[in-house]
Amino acid sequence: MIPESFIQELLNRVDIVDVVDKSVPLKKAGANYSACCPFHNEKSPSFTVSPTKQFYHCFGCGAHGTAIGFVMEYQGLSFVEAIHDLAKMVGLQVPQVQATPEAREQAQAYQQVAASLQEVLQQAANYYKAELKKSPRAIEYLKARGLSGQVAAKFQIGYAPAGWQNLQSVFPHYENEALTIAGLVVENEQGKRYDRFRDRIMFPIHDQKGQVIGFGGRVINPEDTPKYYNSPETPLFQKGHELYGLFLARRAIRGAGRALVVEGYMDVVALAQYGIEYAVAALGTATTPFHITKLMRQADEIVFCFDGDNAGRTAAWRAAMNALPALTDGLKLSFLFLPKAHDPDSYVREFGKEKFEAEIQVAMPLSQYILQHLSESNALQSQEDRIRFLNEAEPIMQQITAPRSAMYLRKKVAELAQLSSEEMHSLLKLPNLNKPQMQARPKLIRTTVSLQRRFCLILLMKPALAMQEDLIWVNRQSEEDVLLKHTIELCLLHPHVKPAVLLRELEAKIDAKVLQEIEREVALLDETLDFAKELVGTRKQLQEAYSHQQSFQLLARIGEKPLSALTQEEIALLKAVGNKPSQNRA
Ligand code: UTP
Ligand code: MN
Repeated sequence: MIPESFIQELLNRVDIVDVVDKSVPLKKAGANYSACCPFHNEKSPSFTVSPTKQFYHCFGCGAHGTAIGFVMEYQGLSFVEAIHDLAKMVGLQVPQVQATPEAREQAQAYQQVAASLQEVLQQAANYYKAELKKSPRAIEYLKARGLSGQVAAKFQIGYAPAGWQNLQSVFPHYENEALTIAGLVVENEQGKRYDRFRDRIMFPIHDQKGQVIGFGGRVINPEDTPKYYNSPETPLFQKGHELYGLFLARRAIRGAGRALVVEGYMDVVALAQYGIEYAVAALGTATTPFHITKLMRQADEIVFCFDGDNAGRTAAWRAAMNALPALTDGLKLSFLFLPKAHDPDSYVREFGKEKFEAEIQVAMPLSQYILQHLSESNALQSQEDRIRFLNEAEPIMQQITAPRSAMYLRKKVAELAQLSSEEMHSLLKLPNLNKPQMQARPKLIRTTVSLQRRFCLILLMKPALAMQEDLIWVNRQSEEDVLLKHTIELCLLHPHVKPAVLLRELEAKIDAKVLQEIEREVALLDETLDFAKELVGTRKQLQEAYSHQQSFQLLARIGEKPLSALTQEEIALLKAVGNKPSQNRA
């Protein structure tokens, strides 16, 4: 737990220009800085960083956020990791919220274990790498599989020599518990300890920061089994969360706007050898929603390409099913089916990069795949076939929460089952297809914002202006009014901080969607405006709007009263708006 006050201080202390410039060299452009956007592919710069707002914004792809957001997105870090990263940059110590003594102890113990695991894994990786250089047989194996020295070095491929206790030479304390927890050493029932990986090509698995968290080891001898041996799950390594190759592929994924998910270590490495560097592999497990979500942070398009055999087909279907809950309407998911007897490694080797990428272009979209898969077991000829089809389709449709994707799939299912959308609707008790309940949210900034919103934006830019504001005049009714109230309160508390800090504070108080909108609006706001003047004008308009609103409400109330019950003021008001009390009212 990091105290909120520290996050504020940090945001006020770091300069987003420095933060971004370290990874994406910036050029001064007027009051702002600009560069080609690191989050999408472009030739002319539409990515801007504002020192006054402490915000970045891309006019091309809409990416935007604070320094924390940038570090998270660019480096693929979690919020807490990003905070630590930035704190280090400006020399601040991240304080921890006082936890219970037990929790603290636990956290400390965990950190100690994690640190020692990390250390032994890195040492082992260095050792395996050095051993590869010494083993002509292992080198020959990799060469025979078409790998260059550069690619082997890039993936830090190594070799675990034959023999039972080679790691003893690296770890004199071979009995160290960390070695067993890290999965490098195995202890049998008799208490005898030996190396887990022996005579295997070693593929280190990295986390998103590039730290080694585990290994996959492949046999060289085709007779040995199992073909691949992986590290067990450890506190650092959860197979359902990690993807092989993601750390190295991150830049390429961003550049291509696409991630390719394959089955094997060698597929990732061979694709990179042939210039397709945006591939990652699930680690001998099915692709999980975590995997999908992780990749979605880096690209809008995910292509699955599994082996052409039956196992590959099964893996593809499982991946599709696991992706359903993570689906969003902005994400394009597709499936590339290779000919039987091929995997991505053999395919790229035989046909080359161009052909492979051409296949990716025409990969089968998720919806089509689902429909094809569901209808292939039965040709939908008979009514019974169609019923079975509907039964299988229903749970799938129910898992998709992305409104537009769900709607189109439902429509297609209805067509194939020969039902009208009304029939389908009544059958599945799903929202009517003709009247989508979810309205498309505008993707770009709304050009007309409410007066309250405008007021907020001005204050976020110049919080000190809030000193002149009196909260009482704000009508606290609509959502926008509540937002305005919160904003004024915040600005009174922090009159001298950057917009990014205020937005961070606001996050705790308002809906995430509204915050997103405001962030965009702030990012797009013209910084050269005279905000003090703008505020005066906006306040005037807002107060007028409020008083109109009040008289409307009053008039409505008056309209319900008998004339005799009206007060002097109410009669005066009616006269003022030209709506004279009529004589024939009782
Ligand atoms: P494959 O059997 O398809 O191997 O397993 P591959 O990737 O084509 O490897 P090469 O080309 O023969 O070297 C795909 C993935 O399944 C996991 C590994 O992660 C492997 O990369 N696997 C496979 C295991 O974990 N254990 C095994 O015994 C086999
Ligand atoms: Mn293979």
